[in-house]
Amino acid sequence: MQNLTDKELIEIINTDKYDEELFNKADAIRRERYGTDVYIRGLIEFTNYCKNNCYYCGIRAGNKNAIRYRLTKEEILSCSAEGYALGFRTFVLQGGEDPYFTDDKICDIVSSIREKYPDCAITLSIGEKSRDSYKAYFDAGANRYLLRHETATCEHYNMLHPSSMSLDVRKRCLYDLREIGYQVGSGFMVGSPYQTTENLVSDLRFLQDLSPDMIGIGPYITHKETPFADKPSGTLELTLRMIALLRIMFPYALLPATTALGSIHPEGREKGLKAGANVVMPNLSPVRVRKLYDLYENKICTGDEAAECRVCLEKRVQNAGYKIVTHRGDVLR
Ligand code: SAM
Ligand code: FES
Repeated sequence: MQNLTDKELIEIINTDKYDEELFNKADAIRRERYGTDVYIRGLIEFTNYCKNNCYYCGIRAGNKNAIRYRLTKEEILSCSAEGYALGFRTFVLQGGEDPYFTDDKICDIVSSIREKYPDCAITLSIGEKSRDSYKAYFDAGANRYLLRHETATCEHYNMLHPSSMSLDVRKRCLYDLREIGYQVGSGFMVGSPYQTTENLVSDLRFLQDLSPDMIGIGPYITHKETPFADKPSGTLELTLRMIALLRIMFPYALLPATTALGSIHPEGREKGLKAGANVVMPNLSPVRVRKLYDLYENKICTGDEAAECRVCLEKRVQNAGYKIVTHRGDVLR
């Protein structure tokens, strides 16, 4: 089933009659490689300033009603310390493309975390940068990078982004990151405006070429302060089907059950795990900024302290039939 043709992929994506069978197959493949282990990553959303204007995103520069914040280096280090004590061995520093955080500042933050926690993986998710910048962060101690390609179809990419952004640049960034030696994560939103089944097939084909270590997908969710305010959100069912397909096509991959999936259904993340996902990313950001990292409506986990999030996820993962492990959680190729 790993070598599905485009026609077979389209059939699976467009129907829901094989769901149970598809999820069971995906779960069996995941258990063969990863057992019941679920890896955790501590997410630190350190800035919601962004110079970009992606049409789908609540923290886009054009949203003048967004209340902006930046964490200080000390705050980021204190989130990491709290996370370390809770058993996290991977920190994900995510933010908008915020020019305030120059390469020197990012390198300084990364090397301070690296020095304190030599046993941890440091993941960056701060958008499109030059190859030199990516290399500098890598040399400072970052070892993973998350950059979703968003859609692998040029025309679709241009419907989701202003003309200042391009799919070619996005792809160039991903190949640069891989060449430098990062463990790379890519991915896309399911049900983003104007997305077709053929677009989803192209996403899968692009991922086969890139062969990323992690593939993050979640439903597109509407945000009222964007040009897509009237576009419907992606569905739980299609997102789960895409997770299962990814597990089948990429048996080795790290597949998160995302916050967006948990935001469109109360048991979205549990269902994601049962469909083949094997990573969860609880939030370590200070509670006072949680609501402000407002990518889409009704985002979950905005009121809980890091420790509460950790306990809540432990229970959810257990209820789904899996168990959280606290090591770095590197990919098993
Ligand atoms: N600035 C970095 C970047 O561009 O990769 C990281 C932050 S960005 C907010 C992280 C991801 O959030 C994007 O790659 C996108 O797929 C997702 N995202 C943004 N708006 C969303 C929405 N309305 N619904 C679901 N996911 C969204
Ligand atoms: Fe930059 Fe969303 S537009 S993070």
